[in-house]
Amino acid sequence: MPTKPSVLVTRRLPSAVLERLESVCDIDLHTEPTAISRESLLARVAGKDALVCLLTEPIDTAVLDAAGPSLKVVANVAVGFNNIDVAACRSRGIVVTNTPDVLTNACADFTWALILAVTRRLGEGERELRDGRWKGWALDHLLGMELRGKQLGLVGMGRIARAVADKAPAFGMSVAYTDQVVTDVPGATAMSLDRLLATSDVLSLHVNLTPQTTRLIDQKALVKMRRSAYLINTSRGPVVDEAALAWALRERVIAGAALDVYEREPVVHPDLLGLENALLIPHLASATTETRTAMADLAISNVLAVLDGRPAITPVP
Ligand code: GLV
Repeated sequence: MPTKPSVLVTRRLPSAVLERLESVCDIDLHTEPTAISRESLLARVAGKDALVCLLTEPIDTAVLDAAGPSLKVVANVAVGFNNIDVAACRSRGIVVTNTPDVLTNACADFTWALILAVTRRLGEGERELRDGRWKGWALDHLLGMELRGKQLGLVGMGRIARAVADKAPAFGMSVAYTDQVVTDVPGATAMSLDRLLATSDVLSLHVNLTPQTTRLIDQKALVKMRRSAYLINTSRGPVVDEAALAWALRERVIAGAALDVYEREPVVHPDLLGLENALLIPHLASATTETRTAMADLAISNVLAVLDGRPAITPVP
């Protein structure tokens, strides 16, 4: 009887999803609730046919060397894949997959949750109430910004940005965007990044992390924004220079920011932590039961396809 292919899975996945994989493969599962250590990853990936990993694990040449020639597929349970050295995988014939589409709706909903929460100062209000500092209803208490009639600026116009844009009419917002490739989106106005920075009331980031987008929103970009504007980041932390953002929030160069992602997760720049106009969320954009299950399921389907000699369903572009 031929031996089953072996798969390293770096975090617990929903049991129904694991069962699908278990019926065909031998699974080496990292069961701790915290991320697999680098040491353990390097040791356990040796000789595996497939690796199912998360965005918390850098998959670089050292991991690929440790895996050896048996490794055929690296399936990231995430849409972003900046944690994987895709070129190194390709040069070794290893397929890399991600989990697009299944998380688009959850991430778009979440972007709106951040937009509403930061413009209506929900974090500040909740902290005040829980700290026992609330003195009662007042006409000028924690006034925020109304969305109706304002411009939503989207940096990047991929799947998630489009889903965010689709919901803008419900809040009476116009949509403008900047994108390297996409030039024609019905109902939205394309413009340069500089113009988007200067004219948007809410600026939301939806780009992949690449050398070109690293620190795209730095001090120079922040000073181009309106003093009344809000920055939303659900993409990747390093797209924003956190120290510059903390300065801009402290000096009221912009009105507020809502962040789901950070430069060095789970570490958050200490200057951000004390700022009332920063809404800080621990990387939750895709965190619904439905979406996380679908992401895990898609990752496993990718592994099974490649191990079966079929094309991956969602190879990274
Ligand atoms: C989450 O950040 C993802 O890339 O799926």
